[in-house]
Amino acid sequence: MSQTDENQKRILYGRRRGKALRKNQRYAVEEILPGLRVPEEENPVNLDALFDGKSEKYWLEIGFGAGEHLAWQASQHPEVGIIGCEPFLNGVAVLLGKLLENGSQNVRLHNEAAEHLMERLPEASINKGFLLFADPWPKTSHQKRRFVSDENIAALAHILEDDAVLRVGTDHTDYGAWILHYFLRSKDFVWEAEHPEDWLKRGNDWPQTRYEAKAMREGRRSVYYRFRRISRKSSR
Ligand SMILES: C[S@@+](CC[C@H](N)C(=O)[O-])C[C@H]1O[C@@H](n2cnc3c(N)ncnc32)[C@H](O)[C@@H]1O
Repeated sequence: MSQTDENQKRILYGRRRGKALRKNQRYAVEEILPGLRVPEEENPVNLDALFDGKSEKYWLEIGFGAGEHLAWQASQHPEVGIIGCEPFLNGVAVLLGKLLENGSQNVRLHNEAAEHLMERLPEASINKGFLLFADPWPKTSHQKRRFVSDENIAALAHILEDDAVLRVGTDHTDYGAWILHYFLRSKDFVWEAEHPEDWLKRGNDWPQTRYEAKAMREGRRSVYYRFRRISRKSSR
């Protein structure tokens, strides 16, 4: 097993594939995905080249699922280059369909765990991040699988620009508390909340995802955190 395979085995706990792809999804995965992939061996990733020099800034969405949020942001912000990380191929296939439908050209994809991309992104290169409804891993014995950890927060602090905002949503009460606990003890982030509505409401520029809709149908309330990356000068 190569070092890369070993790392991926260590980090990824979710599914890579679900039911068989439909014909148009297979076409999108075989013909379109290769042209949108972040090159696997490039380190550091050259973001200007990746987006053909057409983007003014770069955003990152981790675990986009079926891509409702990512597709919406891409169509609303064509001047921004957005990288989506999602190891589940069926989700990638659904997102590709949405990008084709919208004619969005400003998305690139990493069909693997985000950790493997974050370590190759240049310092302070990302202007906004999204981590929406990450797997809550509710069993105590599985909590070490949660994406929010000191290690991943340090990786996010490294790649986010000064004052960049990371949006984190969850419908899971215990994971919501866990997320706050980890971000509040990080010296690199502050929680941008002054009033309850700052974290109990999404706001108009934060569309609903599939998991949030499911939580709502099942009677669970969600929270919407915004953490700002502290300026490197002031944190020294
Ligand atoms: C509960 S789903 C939420 C999907 C979507 N954000 C939503 O709100 O509908 C969590 C997603 O994160 C993906 N995921 C799990 N581990 C990941 C990792 N290390 N890096 C990137 N994505 C990951 C899973 O494949 C899954 O699609």
